[in-house]
Formats: sequence, C-alpha cells, structure tokens
Amino acid sequence: MKVDVLLGLQWGDEGKGKIVDVLTPKYDVITRFQGGPNAGHTLEFNGEKYILRSVPSGIFQGGKVNIIGNGVVLDPLLFKQEAEALAKSGHDLTQRLYISKKAHLILPTHRILDAAYEAAKGTGKIGTTGKGIGPTYTDKISRNGIRVGDLLHNFEAKYSAAKARHEAILKSLNYTYDITELEAEWLEALEYLKQFNLIDSEHVINEYLNEGKSVLAEGAQGTLLDIDFGSYPFVTSSNTVCAGCCTGLGVSPRTIGDVFGIFKAYCTRVGSGPFPTELFDETGEKLCDLGHEFGSVTGRRRRCGWIDLVALRYAVMINGVTQLIMMKSDVLDGFDTIKACVAYRINGEEVTRFPYEIDDTIEPVYVELPGWKTDMIKMQDEDEFPEEFNAYLSFLEEELGVPIKVVSVGPDRAQTIVRYTEEA
Ligand code: GDP
Ligand code: IMO
Ligand code: MG
Repeated sequence: MKVDVLLGLQWGDEGKGKIVDVLTPKYDVITRFQGGPNAGHTLEFNGEKYILRSVPSGIFQGGKVNIIGNGVVLDPLLFKQEAEALAKSGHDLTQRLYISKKAHLILPTHRILDAAYEAAKGTGKIGTTGKGIGPTYTDKISRNGIRVGDLLHNFEAKYSAAKARHEAILKSLNYTYDITELEAEWLEALEYLKQFNLIDSEHVINEYLNEGKSVLAEGAQGTLLDIDFGSYPFVTSSNTVCAGCCTGLGVSPRTIGDVFGIFKAYCTRVGSGPFPTELFDETGEKLCDLGHEFGSVTGRRRRCGWIDLVALRYAVMINGVTQLIMMKSDVLDGFDTIKACVAYRINGEEVTRFPYEIDDTIEPVYVELPGWKTDMIKMQDEDEFPEEFNAYLSFLEEELGVPIKVVSVGPDRAQTIVRYTEEA
C-alpha cells in the first residue's frame, strides 16, 4: 500500500488536524513526519475541542496505530502534558502511540536558546513559537543532537555534554536564564516517555506497507514555512513539503500515493516575514474576527489577507499535490466580493512565478469575484452550494490545475463536504 500525505500549502494553520481526523477512518496508520510542538492542530467533534501538538491527529478514531516519526523533534515535557491531558479526557495513548527512536529530543536549553537567538535578532526576529525547534534541528544537522533512543544508551553523559555546550553559547550571548525548575520537570518527563513503545519506526512503517496497510502522513506547518522553499529566513527549521515525508518516516518516494494539499479560502500568517496579500484594513480585521484567527497554542493574533494563488501554485508544484482541500470558506459567507491574487507586480512587471525574494515592493494583482452571500455552515452536500461558490471553486481549480475534493464549512468534524462523491 501507499503513504498518502496531507500537508499545508500556506503558512500553517490551514486546518490539517481537522482533516486528518476526518480522513483517519480510511487508514490503518497515522504518522507525523516533521516539526514538533510548534504545531497546534485543532479538532472538534461531539461538542469537544482538542488541540494536538506532537501527537498525530488520528488518535481519536479507534483501532488505529499512530506513530511519531524520526523527522519529528519531541519535547518530553510538553509531550507528557499533552498525553496526560488526553488520558484525562479518556484517550489513553500508551497502547496506540509509537515513537521513533530516531526522533530528536528538545532539551530545556534548546528552548532557552530559541529565546536568546530571537532576542539577539531584535526587530529582525522570526517570531518563533519559542519551543526550541530551530536549536534542536540545528543540533541534529550539526551532529550534536540527542535522540529518543539515547534514553536507553548512555543518556546522562550525552545530556551533560549538550547542556554544557548550550550553556557556553548562552554565556557568549550574555543571556540570563534559570532552568532549574524546567529542567527538573523535563528530566521527570523522560521517565514518562519511557513507558511508550519506542520503536525503529522506519522498519515498522515499511512492514505495515508490505502487509498491505495504508498510511496517512500528517504534515505540520505549511509549504511557505519550509526551510528550503519557504520565505527564508522567516520559516521553520524542517522540510514541511512532501519530500520531508520520505526522510521523516524512512519511506521511499515510490511509496507516496495521494498528496492532499490543504488551504484556507483566504490566507493567514503568524510570526514575522513577508505576506504579499496581507490586509491592514477593516477587511483584514473582519477575516481575523470571523475566522477566530488566533494561534491555537500561543494565542497570537494571526495576520490575515486574501488568498494568494502565486504562492499556492508554487506549493502545488513543489508538493505534487493530487487533491486540494479548501478550508474555512464559511468565513467568506457574508462578503459581497472576494479577491484572489493571481500575479505579483514587481518593478512594474507582472509575474506569476513565486519569486526568490518576497519584499515590500511586491504589489498583488487581484481579480475580484462575486461573493455567495449565503450561510453555508449547515450544508452537507455539494448540491446545496450556491452558484457563486461553485464559480469560486471552478476559478481556483482552473488557476491551480488540481481538483478541490473536500470543502470545509466549519470547525466541526461533521462540517466537511466531500465533492464528486460518485467518483470516491
Ligand atoms: P492546523 O494547524 O492546520 O491543524 O490548523 P489550526 O488548528 O491551527 O487552525 C485552524 C483553525 O480553524 C482551528 O481553530 C479550527 O478549529 C478551525 N477550522 C478548521 N476548519 C474550519 C472551517 O472550515 N471553518 C471554520 N470557521 N473554522 C475552521
Ligand atoms: P501548524 O502545524 C503556523 C511559524 C512561527 C514562526 C516560524 C518559525 O499548527 O500549522 P518555529 O517555532 O517553528 O521555529 O517558528 O514558523 N510556525 C507556525 N505558524 N502554524 C504552525 O504550525 C507553525 N509552526 C511554526 O510562527 O513564524
Ligand atoms: Mg495550527
């Protein structure tokens, strides 16, 4: 069987958690392949709301195997808090969550380093989530990291060496901090982590595939935050694109099946960095208010703007998207007209290719489409879609060259409409 991949095509928070949960019944195994607790994936069903950070969003549908892959960075303390909260609400993970021994550990000093580097950048800061993601991936790439499997192999010596190295860097940055309490809790959380199945996930996942089991890989962040293809340096530190699934799980490119690309009907970004279609006016405010655009983990207000098809086309290309999933169209239900950026004007010239550098001189070129002015949140079937909404979908499909197979009209699991059902 194949590995289907679901990933964000914008700057994250597209609604990945919700859709992974919706798709989970079709799969045997759900995996995360990159990122860490910088993610916040929201799921709503039966009147309950959950926010997952390191745990795959397949955890709520019974009988599935969930795997945190080798490409993920894991903070044992945040993981413990997440898993304990889930256990309290009746979702015990110990038997259905496996963790790769090759996943790297986020140490307390990684978190401090994240804050110190941000402080040193001053106004040029990235606006990270402060979870130690960059410093942990830096240690991984510079071959200084500590992996989950090291918990069983001479951990104390490795930990002391890493901590000493981090402390020297922090000293050179003149950064003052106190990790006594954080470190004590973190060390305690290591014991909690040890009760989980710590596995050689690349073997296990390939064995599942050979047995005919289906795997869904859940991306975190989004394509425009990818370390190679995003708006560098205002990006995260992992490959969020489809290729990251191969390295983050240990599966061959030949095993990749469908690539589900998920996007909001408009666009948001949290943290610093360029955002060509960002709106600073009342419309931007309206999108933020109607879309409840506040970070699920940090609570930070998300910047809002119109959909950017230049960036989306790029994301479709890099990922080889086979099916599109459009989220939060309900937020646009009351708009008279809706704008979509189809090109950028750079130095007086219109370009449709996502450029090397996105700066403030870029002017978005918009087309304006009629709004549908219809409350869609109770709709269950595409037959109910208003004409203008269908026209908006056709326009996007034409621009992006890929069919939109799913439309989400509200945060709840049930508010999801699968299109072209006769083909499914
Ligand atoms: P993720 O990081 O990609 O999983 O997305 P987040 O959970 O960070 O952000 C998506 C937010 O939008 C969450 O608060 C969801 O509950 C909410 N959401 C998801 N789909 C829809 C939708 O179709 N309509 C509305 N109004 N909200 C949605
Ligand atoms: P999900 O999976 C939105 C952003 C941060 C910052 C940049 C780098 O919920 O979509 P980092 O802490 O990764 O070093 O921060 O990336 N960022 C996200 N933005 N959704 C996310 O995850 C994000 N994870 C990181 O705001 O701009
Ligand atoms: Mg999120």
